[in-house]
Amino acid sequence: MASKHRHFDFLVLGSGIGGLFYTLKVAPHGRVAVITKKHRAESNTNYAQGGIAAVTSKEDSVEMHVADTLNAGAGLCKEAVVRAIVEEGPARVAELMALGMEFSEREIPGADGTREFDLGKEGGHSKRRILHAKDATGRAIESSLLNAVNSHGTVEWFEDHFAINLITTAKLGDTGPNRCLGVYVLNQLTGEVETFSADQVLLATGGCGKVYLYTTNPDIATGDGVAMAYRAGVPVANMEFIQFHPTCLYHPRAKSFLVTEAVRGEGGVLTGLDGQQFMDRYHELKSLAPRDIVARAIDAEMKKTGSACVHLDITHKPAPFLIERFPNIYQNCLRFGIDITKEPIPVVPAAHYQCGGVVTNLDGETGIDGLYAVGEVACTGLHGANRLASNSLLEALVCAERAARLAVARRGAHACPEIPGWRRGNAHDPDELVVVSHNWDELRRTMWDYVGIVRTTKRLERARKRIELLREEIQQYYWDFNVTSDLLELRNLATVAELIVECALQRNESRGLHYTLDHPNPDPALAQHDTRVQRPEGVSPRN
Ligand code: FUM
Repeated sequence: MASKHRHFDFLVLGSGIGGLFYTLKVAPHGRVAVITKKHRAESNTNYAQGGIAAVTSKEDSVEMHVADTLNAGAGLCKEAVVRAIVEEGPARVAELMALGMEFSEREIPGADGTREFDLGKEGGHSKRRILHAKDATGRAIESSLLNAVNSHGTVEWFEDHFAINLITTAKLGDTGPNRCLGVYVLNQLTGEVETFSADQVLLATGGCGKVYLYTTNPDIATGDGVAMAYRAGVPVANMEFIQFHPTCLYHPRAKSFLVTEAVRGEGGVLTGLDGQQFMDRYHELKSLAPRDIVARAIDAEMKKTGSACVHLDITHKPAPFLIERFPNIYQNCLRFGIDITKEPIPVVPAAHYQCGGVVTNLDGETGIDGLYAVGEVACTGLHGANRLASNSLLEALVCAERAARLAVARRGAHACPEIPGWRRGNAHDPDELVVVSHNWDELRRTMWDYVGIVRTTKRLERARKRIELLREEIQQYYWDFNVTSDLLELRNLATVAELIVECALQRNESRGLHYTLDHPNPDPALAQHDTRVQRPEGVSPRN
């Protein structure tokens, strides 16, 4: 039986802030398919606690936000990109509010009940500038955007649909300029692989936190977009810059629960298990130092003392304030028997954000015509070597709007050529699922142990060897057996792991989030240097 082929004007892969904002912009101009591997609300955005950094107060300025971003980025940010995103951000935030998003406000003291944004503060920001909805900002944004998208009759949802591989003219053997034609998608409800085509395709698939054993990210963060783009020959950059969030809840039953940096912004302090503060030995900003410094300091303290975690203490603040400001964290910790108003929170660093990704410009354009990438999957040059907290939702909004403008202007410029259906070959149902679960665990443990917060060349080379073996085994499995979402995620994680290691081995210095004991200082010669990986031309044996 021929596999299904559906054609649209716009394909959107991913349903977080970037994908949904773009969808809203293109929806009035044609038929849109939003493809997501789980339920539509299950995105990284949904779990964001802190908020959106944007200049909205009189005390703040574009110059200050730009300077903080450049400072965090350790020399690698592209200043023009930073400036454009910071300048355009407030207008995009206003659009979000017009869609129904409500940010937390507070009464201005002595101003007769007049209200203003209750701006939060996070590491590396010189001003309070984080717009938030208490401590569940992402959930509020996701639901405002979903409500708005659902009111568009031209948007079709494909939930439980897993995008496998991009379809490009080069893959079909066309020797002209490479163009994206669509994507092969596993319909997880039927087990069939279907063809989706459009001449405007957006990757908004988020990051790859699950490549590490410990992460603040939800299970969906398996680097699918970066891996697909890399396989299609699109350049990928700066993957060595993985941001480790300093404060993930440490509890045997808590899975990937972030404790927002805003807790430290409101006065929370990091201590050892003995109650002694230690951050003053690492940075003048102490617990609110930039994230890379705090994460490394915690790692060093844990190694020195042999403790399994450190403490984040905010018990000196009044309980009603904490319960009002951090209701999500308060309730979640309470479920694990931790009352944050009375006792410190046990925390550890965990993989949090991918600062590199698919190389794009501000408009989300990739190296392939008709393929755009926005949000965590993309590397625009905003974050450089270290992302400033809460800049990511801002980037996704600004770049999604820009990408949508281009996509609308360019849609329909090319007729869709004949696209062959997915070739199943001799694949049959998998017989030993243990291969997938074993390789999944081994890969994530290898990345955590050898490609973590503190690296060495020897550890990276060890990781490279092991990952290569794993990737070969996974690839063989991929050819021999019918695909499942677990296998596809593992395959993507293995690709992304290789890219992280390759980029890390290219960078013989320590800069921002990449810290190696073999080259502990930045090399001024590499101050403007992006690491880059691109798959050589060639068609893979199966699709
Ligand atoms: O700590 C946080 O709430 C995280 C913010 C961010 O990663 O931008």
